[in-house]
Amino acid sequence: MLTIIEAVTAWQAVRKSTIFMDNTIGLVPTMGNLHAGHQSLLQRAKQENDITVLTIFVNPTQFNDPADLANYPKTFANDIQIAEANKIDYVFAPCYQDMYPDQYHYKISESELSKKLCGQYRAGHFDGVLTIVLKLLQLVKAHNAYFGEKDYQQLQLVKGLTEAFFIDTKIIACPTVRDENGLALSSRNNLLSNEQLALARHFPALLGSKLTIVEIIKQLTALNFSVEYVEEHFDRRFGAVKLGNVRLIDNFRL
Ligand code: PAJ
Repeated sequence: MLTIIEAVTAWQAVRKSTIFMDNTIGLVPTMGNLHAGHQSLLQRAKQENDITVLTIFVNPTQFNDPADLANYPKTFANDIQIAEANKIDYVFAPCYQDMYPDQYHYKISESELSKKLCGQYRAGHFDGVLTIVLKLLQLVKAHNAYFGEKDYQQLQLVKGLTEAFFIDTKIIACPTVRDENGLALSSRNNLLSNEQLALARHFPALLGSKLTIVEIIKQLTALNFSVEYVEEHFDRRFGAVKLGNVRLIDNFRL
């Protein structure tokens, strides 16, 4: 049965209970608005652990654009239904005050990878991500935590975080889940108009193609995408584009 916990103190009390002592714990951190991409992480966590903990927290410190935070889809009641359908054990959904008793005076900052790719366009974004992920890892003390390759830079930074701070949670990478047109599922896809959604499929098609970076940028621009970057690192090609105000990211192994 699903247990929903909001207060950090309540979670800490539950985490100390005997049920957690002899069981493995799988953590799936999310910002809610759950889709099949999130559900693939939940299913993997369920398969590999005795207890699955889903966290839902729209983390303000990782939004560099206040309008993006205001528009971010919040669908808590539906998320709970999805958690129940996936037979999740715990949803931990704290509030800002509980997660940031320090008012974000303390933060985690990485100085190399976080400055590249999305870091060039989203000042402070990865500080916010790494800070909230560290807080969640400390609170949940999971054996395994599941992250999507869709946000590959985030995944690498979180792996680096656990190594740098000797966190005893294994970070498990999960493949990107796509729709029937190849578009990576994302909560932000809900913000696209039908017209933009039809156009959006060209982004993964071009990014994953054998074309050169210059040619990909040219074709995306001709299709009215505003291209932030197309770059290759770690044997992968990464891209970020905007359709109107909606920002899409994706990556493919070369
Ligand atoms: P959110 O965007 O809700 O994503 C939660 C997790 O789901 C992340 O690990 C993300 O990579 C994964 N995910 C999203 N779309 C996916 C897809 N199409 N296929 C596979 N996995 C997918 O990422 C965040 O939240 C936040 O930055 C968070 C880590 C929770 C910190 O606030």
